[in-house]
Amino acid sequence: MDQQEDEAVRAPRNRVSQAPQDEAVQTPQNDPARLIVVTGGAGGGIGQGISRALAVEGWSVVIADREEKEAIALADQLVAEGLSALGTYLDVVDESTVNTLFREFVPKNGKLCGLVNSAGVGLVKTLGDVSTAEWDRIHTVNLRGAFLCAREAIAHFRTHGGGSIVNIGSVQAIAPEVGYSTYSAAKTGMIGLTRGIAADHGRENIRCNIIHPGLVDSPLNRQLIAQWGDPEAWIRNFAESRQMLPSTITPEEIGAAVAFLMSHKSRSITGVELPIDGGNSIWQGLNAINEEQANTGGTA
Ligand SMILES: NC(=O)c1ccc[n+]([C@@H]2O[C@H](COP(=O)([O-])OP(=O)(O)OC[C@H]3O[C@@H](n4cnc5c(N)ncnc54)[C@H](O)[C@@H]3O)[C@@H](O)[C@H]2O)c1
Repeated sequence: MDQQEDEAVRAPRNRVSQAPQDEAVQTPQNDPARLIVVTGGAGGGIGQGISRALAVEGWSVVIADREEKEAIALADQLVAEGLSALGTYLDVVDESTVNTLFREFVPKNGKLCGLVNSAGVGLVKTLGDVSTAEWDRIHTVNLRGAFLCAREAIAHFRTHGGGSIVNIGSVQAIAPEVGYSTYSAAKTGMIGLTRGIAADHGRENIRCNIIHPGLVDSPLNRQLIAQWGDPEAWIRNFAESRQMLPSTITPEEIGAAVAFLMSHKSRSITGVELPIDGGNSIWQGLNAINEEQANTGGTA
């Protein structure tokens, strides 16, 4: 390869649009045509926290969920509160429904300014016992689903000067507990997807970031935890014993962070991971230092 050719190969980004970030793209202005799609947006906890926070900020939120009735009911509720929202069916596993959402529903209703990949399913099982079907399902919903929706969203963003994608990962991607290997692998894949999109499409003013929630005090978690005891006490105890910050994490906090990452205020932030876990992911490390200090009597 001669020098001229080499330069061209290594500097492709310098040849694409240098246009300044379009502030209008990431400012909702209470315009019902400025859409953000939230996959899994009807979910009783995080999904609803995100959908509501974005609607309150003035975005028109497309709540796209496998649970169509719940998606439409939440949209109706937000509209009744004077906010802008639409509910529709989406199964992120089924590529044809992804295409219908982005190629038919979205263009009919406005301009796509953002995407939140929140649809997700979990699995708690040590890897030696995980079936191929279980592995495939966790990866298909969490990772492949996020890829399919991101690819469609990017096609929209390219037509009007940019956009923002927020992926919902998990603290299990960065500090996995026993039993989370499959889920962790899929969510860690979403970190690669996030950084990859940020690198591939930054020059098109397309940003991509990932939030890692810790244990969120949501109706679904409360329902799951009920088998081990009083959910409120269990969640409080988790926060006090496994987090650096003792307060429990709410869906509203996740929604507030997504709203920030969607807004123009975060215009220079891309490719980052934001754990919202009360310090759960650093808990082990600080514990180890404390133990060492206790053993040596010194300061670290
Ligand atoms: N709840 C937590 O403590 C926690 C912690 C870390 C990460 N997360 C992640 O946050 C996101 C939301 O989780 P949640 O706890 O609110 O769960 P949830 O079950 O309340 O919400 C998930 C939503 O995704 C929808 N969904 C599932 N499969 C789908 C599919 N194939 N197509 C379209 N929609 C689908 C469900 O119908 C549901 O509405 C998930 O990605 C989850 O992995 C949750």
